[in-house]
Order: sequence, then C-alpha cells, then structure tokens
Amino acid sequence: MPRDLVRTKPVEQSIADTHEPQHELKRTLGALDLTVFGVGVIIGTGIFVLTGTAAKNNAGPAVALSFAAAGVVCALAALCYAEFASTVPVAGSAYIFAYSTLGELPAWIIGWDLVLELALGSAVVAVGWSGYVQSLLESGGVTLPHAISGAATGGWSFNLLAALLVALLTGVILIGMHLSAEITRVIVAIKVTVVLVVIVAGLFFIKADNYSPFIPPAKEVAGKSGGQSPLIQVLFGYTPTDFGVMGIFTAAAVVFFAFIGFDVVATAAEETRNPQHDLPRGILGSLLICTVLYMAVALVVTGMQNYTELSSDAPLSDAFKAVGQHAFADIIDVGAVAGLTSVTMILLLGQSRVFFAMSRDGLLPRTFSTVHPRFRTPTRAIVLLGLVVAVLAGLIPLEELSELVNIGTLFAFVVVSVGVVILRHTRPDLPRAFRCPWVPVVPILSVMACLWLMLNLPVATWWRFLVWMVVGFVVYFLYGRGHSRIGLADRARDAGGAPSADSGR
Ligand code: ALA
Repeated sequence: MPRDLVRTKPVEQSIADTHEPQHELKRTLGALDLTVFGVGVIIGTGIFVLTGTAAKNNAGPAVALSFAAAGVVCALAALCYAEFASTVPVAGSAYIFAYSTLGELPAWIIGWDLVLELALGSAVVAVGWSGYVQSLLESGGVTLPHAISGAATGGWSFNLLAALLVALLTGVILIGMHLSAEITRVIVAIKVTVVLVVIVAGLFFIKADNYSPFIPPAKEVAGKSGGQSPLIQVLFGYTPTDFGVMGIFTAAAVVFFAFIGFDVVATAAEETRNPQHDLPRGILGSLLICTVLYMAVALVVTGMQNYTELSSDAPLSDAFKAVGQHAFADIIDVGAVAGLTSVTMILLLGQSRVFFAMSRDGLLPRTFSTVHPRFRTPTRAIVLLGLVVAVLAGLIPLEELSELVNIGTLFAFVVVSVGVVILRHTRPDLPRAFRCPWVPVVPILSVMACLWLMLNLPVATWWRFLVWMVVGFVVYFLYGRGHSRIGLADRARDAGGAPSADSGR
C-alpha cells in the first residue's frame, strides 16, 4: 500500500490544531453537561418504539436482558472511546482516533462512515418525531394533508414536519453550543421524568402472570430470503432464533439502536473545558444511566402487558392505554416528542463536528472548518449538512435505512477498539487521564461483540454500506488525498520547502 495512505497524524498536532484561531471552538461544557448530552442523544426511538417490537417478535419479557446485553457490548466500546477521548480530545471522535493510529485512508473511511451514521440517524429520528407529533395532532382532531404527511403509502408525500424540525435545530446549533446545551438540559429533564413516570407508575399495574414464561420457548424462524437474510445466515447457514436464550441476543441486535449516541459525546471534545477528565465521565456516565433506565422500562412494560399484545409503534403509551390510564399515555407521548428532539439535534451537532475535523485536515474543502467569529461554530458545515438531512428526512422512506445507522456505528466501534491497542503500542508515553482496563482483552471482546451484531444485520444493509464506502474511496482519491494538510506538508518537506500550517487552504 502506498505510504501516504497510512500516514498518521501525530496526536500533538491534532491537539495543536484545536488552538488555531480560525478553527477554534468555544469551550463551555463540563462533565455534567456531557452526561446530559449523552442522555439527551441516547434516549429516543429505541426505548420509545423498539422495546415493543423486540419483546413481541424476539425475546418476550427477557427483552430486559437484551438491553443488558446490548449495554455490555456498548460498555466495552465505551471504555475504549473513553481512553481515546481522554488521550486525543479533538472534535472528530473515531475519525481522529483512527488518524492517530491506523492512518489517513482508514481515518477518512471512518469519518465518511460517521457522516453517514449521523446524517441518517438524525433523519430517521426526525421522521419518528414527525410520526409522534402527527399522532398527537390526530388525537386533537387535526390531520395533515397526505402530500405533506410523509406517509409511506398512498403516493408521493413530503414529510414536512421532519424537514422543518431539522431546519429549526440546524438554526439552534448554528447559534452555539451554549444554547444547544441549555435546550438539551430542559429536554433531558422532561424525558428522564417521563421515563421515571413509566417506571414508577407502571409498577402498580404489573401482573406477575405476564412474566411467565420470562424467556419464552425458542421458536424456529423460517430463514429470511433475499436481501433481508442476515449475513451470518448467508455465510454460515446459521439462522438467528426468536425467543429462547438465543432470542435474547437476536433482540439485542434490534435494541442496539437505543444505545447509539454515547459515542457522539466524544465529538464535543473541543467544546469541553477539561476534556481529559470530563469526556470519560460523560461517555460512561450517560451509558450507565441509560442502561439502567432501559432495563427498568423493559421490565415494567412487559409486566404491564403480555408481550404478545405489546404495540410495535408506541409500546410505552399503549401499555398504559391498555390498563385504562390514558392521561399517562398522553404524558408519555409528549415525553417521546421532547426526547426525539434532542436526539435529532445532538446527532446533527456531532455530524457537523466530524465534518469540521475532516475539513480542518484538508480531507474535505477547508472552507467547512472556518468558524463563525461570534458564535464560534462551524457554520458552513452546519448549514450544508442541515440541508442534506432536511431533504433526506422529508423525501426518503427511511425505515430500512435505519439499519445502516447500526452498521456504521458498529464499524466505528470496531475501529476505535482496535485503535486503542495500537496507540498503547505506538505511543505508550502519551498521558492518559483514563485507561481502559484489561487491554487488550476488553478491546478484543468489544471487536468480537460488534462483529457478531454486524453479522446479524441483513445482506441488503451490507450492500448499501459497501456502496457508501466505495463512494467514499472515490471521493478520497479524487479530493482528500491531494488536499490532505499532512500530505501537503510532507510534499513540501520532500521538496525542500518549509512545511506550512496553512497548506491546503
Ligand atoms: N439512541 C437513539 C435513539 O434511540 C439514536 O433514538
């Protein structure tokens, strides 16, 4: 492989770049803000929607254990993220970690992958938000015209509410991290209260019978066909089971989406006052809080209603409706709307920071890393990505594409886990405010667990992912390789000139 494709960016240089006046973000966040950010982006569609689907189709009441299993997979990756974030506290998250360890091409690929994950993630959640708002409007007697409802059936339709939400949130994140953090704090207070209401109020409606059997007997599922078959079935003939002990893991792959977001905390590194100390706390703290809440919600909801009767669209509020508690159901719907707002916003925010970091390195046009003199935010990156996501959310039926978010995230987890081990070998001298325990065992387990979940994703998702990656390769060879700041500095040095920090501008 040509040497330039695997040239790494020294950690010291990544950190020095964060102080360039034209590209310097404003540091306003502390450990508590980061934890709130984490909870703000993690709790969303996963708990408000997927709990029902996973319990009903894959695991029964044992879906609580599926949340625990998915939480453990994420915790393994989160330990690796926490070490990296405390060592290389720079905005690009997995992208910059890969640049420090694996080299430029792998870093580009992971950055490209993160842009996909975060863009699709925010569009998918905005569409979910629009669904909840429309259902609330309908209970108030208002039905949107078909043409702007985004309905999947009945002819072409634009999801106006989803696109408007993205446009509005783009405006908020343009104005600055401080405003985004304030809004997130309010929203997180609302949604955590609603989740606690579900847990505490739900306890009074639990019927022990609903837990029996806790792990329903395993059911042979007919192997899926075509693009919907999981890759593991195509490669090894293994058909994932529903229910039984293995069903718990099948459901874990479904509810994995509910945990996505703790990794986004790392993208706020350059807006954190004491990143070495606070990032690990934000990443691990938010993950722990969400895992405990998820398990409790899953236990309560499957205790309130037999898993076979749970709804797939709004399982939490429907469980309360089923026991005649309509007021609670309305509170939950409002909580879901609030909750999905902050998820969309923080995914948009994280995406702009990764894009910003890639642009600052010259792998994308440098204009996208210029920060606004007053707001200190990368306005051009935010506006471009906001437009793309608004169009995606408005136009494209996204349900199937949401699995691309899972595969993209898992791929990033794999890269970060491998990167931790590499950086321990290549730069043992770097100060690490947080050290992942039992290296390399934890990173290896993390890689294996992520690969397992990836293998359980449908073949069609793998194809779409590969197509996106191929596009990424093409863009890199057409643009990034020639404009990389490190590459330009190397070439200037080879030619005998002095390397310039501004090269590539
Ligand atoms: N974890 C986020 C959600 O469940 C993406 O919506």
